[in-house]
Amino acid sequence: MLLVCLTVLGLNAYYSPCAAAPPRDHSLHLKSVPPTSTRNKLLLISFDGFRWDYDRNTDTPHLDKMAEDGVKATYVTPSFITITSPSHFTMVTGRHIENHGVIHNMWFNTTTQERKQYYQTQFVDSYWDNGSLPIWITAQRQGLKTGSLHFPGTAATYRGETVMVRQVESPVYDYSDEADWRMNVDKVIGEWFNQQDLDFVSLYFGEPDLAGHKYGPDSPEVREMVKQVDRTIGYMRDKIQEQGLTERLNVIITTDHGMSTIFRGEQANQIILSKIPNFSFRDIQFQLLDYGSVGMLLPKEGKLEKVYQVLKGSHPHLHVYKKEEMPERLHYSKHPRLLPLILIADTGYIVNGFLPLNYNKGDHGFDNEALDMKAFFRAVGPDFHKNLLVDPFDMTDVYPLMCHLLGINPEVNDGHFDNVKRMLASEKLPEGDRVAENNTSMQVVTGLAVTVGFLALVFVVATSYNVWKKRRA
Ligand SMILES: *[C@@H]1O[C@H](CO)[C@@H](O)[C@H](O)[C@H]1NC(C)=O
Ligand SMILES: *[C@@H]1O[C@H](CO)[C@@H](O)[C@H](O)[C@H]1NC(C)=O
Ligand SMILES: *[C@@H]1O[C@H](CO)[C@@H](O)[C@H](O)[C@H]1NC(C)=O
Ligand SMILES: [Zn+2]
Repeated sequence: MLLVCLTVLGLNAYYSPCAAAPPRDHSLHLKSVPPTSTRNKLLLISFDGFRWDYDRNTDTPHLDKMAEDGVKATYVTPSFITITSPSHFTMVTGRHIENHGVIHNMWFNTTTQERKQYYQTQFVDSYWDNGSLPIWITAQRQGLKTGSLHFPGTAATYRGETVMVRQVESPVYDYSDEADWRMNVDKVIGEWFNQQDLDFVSLYFGEPDLAGHKYGPDSPEVREMVKQVDRTIGYMRDKIQEQGLTERLNVIITTDHGMSTIFRGEQANQIILSKIPNFSFRDIQFQLLDYGSVGMLLPKEGKLEKVYQVLKGSHPHLHVYKKEEMPERLHYSKHPRLLPLILIADTGYIVNGFLPLNYNKGDHGFDNEALDMKAFFRAVGPDFHKNLLVDPFDMTDVYPLMCHLLGINPEVNDGHFDNVKRMLASEKLPEGDRVAENNTSMQVVTGLAVTVGFLALVFVVATSYNVWKKRRA
């Protein structure tokens, strides 16, 4: 079988205990996999919280080079709720959050009041394995070899199977350490792709999200972190070249969500539920508050209507919905784990319970229509066009794109391959499709040259005319 047993133990590493997956017949699926010689490998990288426009006011030579060599999307629209675990799971399943069931970074039980934070939630198999298979498992079932490093969802077991090769960070991991980023790149490119010949790997970095929360998206600290991301991409592309993988490896770099500046201080008009007239926590059985831009409430029996009426319209920047009344476009309504009342703050605001407990200067989780929530996207490799700028698409569309690149049959999903196929080298560029900035700037330069030339001509003609007029006079 394809199961690989890893015995190596790294310092920050937690490897799968080699629990054998139930034997399964691959023969049915193998037919769909093209011969290895035509199928290229795929690396999916996520830099957490890399807003779509972070490269605009920072010098990013390696990202610029990558755009020249590949495809750049204006932005990608993540699914709602725009937070880490839900959004990453959308990336690897192609499903909206109400369909895959990882509805929050936090696991909770409304009966026992128990909650688990982001890290502990990674190990709750039943939370992740809720009917949608991540691409690792689907690819493995169809005969491919896959790996995942630090990517949300890596630790969980799905229908008895885990990703073949994996590394899960320790609970006290430093997500910002550049030296460690390079070790992870070395491991994925050198060991996993080259030595172990994996077909697909997902690789996660926890920045620039942390810097964005702490200092705000427009801070010098975020710009420094964006430079660190850029250096890492340069390092990775050199490593790919050095290992002879440039023509055999496609790379997609994207992220889970953007980042928005949070309004603070006196004028901010904070949303604090305990201060809302007639709202009482005595009416609430379970609450998920003080967790950023979205809150959820389970009112006690018979109190739903009262709580809803009291909260609705109580604050100009708070939107209150009964679960079943949620706007359709947000796709955050159908799952049984969602609580009956959903509270969404406008961009820049936080939903607080008793006190404004949030000390972050930046946050996300907001409506995915907000530009601040849009995600970054780049791709490069043998199967992608070069120097191409494509229009925005949805995060769910990344999944059918990846399945196509890997030559595997996708599971049921909410994405549309048609929205992304134009970035493939196999697709002819439609007339008038835009090309990336470099060419745009060439056009600007050409335009300027033409204008300057024309003005010079006008000047020469006018001067000659004046001279001629003077002579005649
Ligand atoms: C929550 O806890 C109750 C009581 O222990 C249990 O019956 C229920 O299955 C739990 N729900 C989840 C989602 O774990
Ligand atoms: C998904 O989770 C919900 C609620 O926790 C549960 O009722 C449902 O059975 C789960 N579905 C699957 C396929 O695991
Ligand atoms: C609060 O409840 C009282 C008593 O039911 C009612 O008279 C009052 O109008 C309510 N105030 C608001 C702001 O809803
Ligand atoms: Zn995130």
